[in-house]
Amino acid sequence: MSGNAVEFVDVSKSYTSTSIQKNFDLAIPGGKIITIIGPSGCGKTTLLKMINRLIEPDSGKVLIEGKDISGLDPVQLRRNIGYVIQQIGLFPHMTIEQNISIVPRLKGEKKQHLIDRATELLKLIGLEPSRFLGRYPHELSGGH
Ligand SMILES: Nc1ncnc2c1ncn2[C@@H]1O[C@H](COP(=O)(O)OP(=O)(O)O)[C@@H](O)[C@H]1O
Ligand SMILES: [Mg+2]
Repeated sequence: MSGNAVEFVDVSKSYTSTSIQKNFDLAIPGGKIITIIGPSGCGKTTLLKMINRLIEPDSGKVLIEGKDISGLDPVQLRRNIGYVIQQIGLFPHMTIEQNISIVPRLKGEKKQHLIDRATELLKLIGLEPSRFLGRYPHELSGGH
């Protein structure tokens, strides 16, 4: 067990003849926050999409908690990765609570657990649950 949350090992990826990542190595330790910065088109999105297998590397490996993700079921893999979704990624007809709870609901979590978790996450980012859980995405500022 490497102790790394995510690790890229010798990853290469090309689209047609253009090489996007070449022998890329990066180890992200558990519990750390990292930011990927680079000019438009440098390969940031490609890199992130390789973590949940929306894009497969041509060669090399991506590990999550020491496990090669090429051997995991992609649906299970994606349901165990948290995402911060905004704007077009939100369902406009669902409340904030329902939007937050989509994946845990798909995983069959109990109703009370869904409410508790949505409440906990709103508190974490400084939004008062009693005010925001029942609102719809268009009733938030949207960060503009
Ligand atoms: N499906 C694709 N087919 C061909 N080229 C692509 C595809 N996806 C992205 N690219 C190209 O690969 C490069 C990296 O894209 P991307 O990872 O989206 O960069 P970033 O997120 O850093 O802006 C860009 O030049 C982009 O045009
Ligand atoms: Mg991008």
